Amino acid sequence: MKLAIGNDHVAVEMKKEIKEYLEGKGYEVIDVGTNSHERFNYPVSGFKVAKMVAAGEADRGILICGTGVGISLAANKVHGIRACVCSEPYTARLSRQHNNSNILAFGSRVIGMETAKMIVDEWLAAEFEGGRHQGRIDMITEIEETQNLTAANCRQ
Ligand code: RB5
Repeated sequence: MKLAIGNDHVAVEMKKEIKEYLEGKGYEVIDVGTNSHERFNYPVSGFKVAKMVAAGEADRGILICGTGVGISLAANKVHGIRACVCSEPYTARLSRQHNNSNILAFGSRVIGMETAKMIVDEWLAAEFEGGRHQGRIDMITEIEETQNLTAANCRQ
């Protein structure tokens, strides 16, 4: 499985360790950065990873910022992306089984290294269960594809 990984300046060390951890397990990991501690705007890496996953250039993505929130918000603007912030393994597993998440996000200021590895392991091992969950994913896709979601169009 090919993974894309991205982060901002507060998550450089965690990203490096997670990347090495995954490579040690045999995954191919494409690192979109940043690898500098200079202030770095998380939407840049969130958008890059999301585009790679949406285009099929990576099978799945992992995003890390301070909380995982900002970077996942950016990723979720790309059609077909289901990025989920997970701070524990249970949500990570269910985000795959029920929500078919294709990007995992978490926060370097929120969780420790060992919890991050456990979350990543659980998320990578879990498969989408389909069935009743597929219809709900289809509904999300339909919103994405059929609605022109400008603020004006959201007013009833
Ligand atoms: C950077 O200070 C911080 O805002 C960012 O890492 C992230 O937590 C945003 O959601």
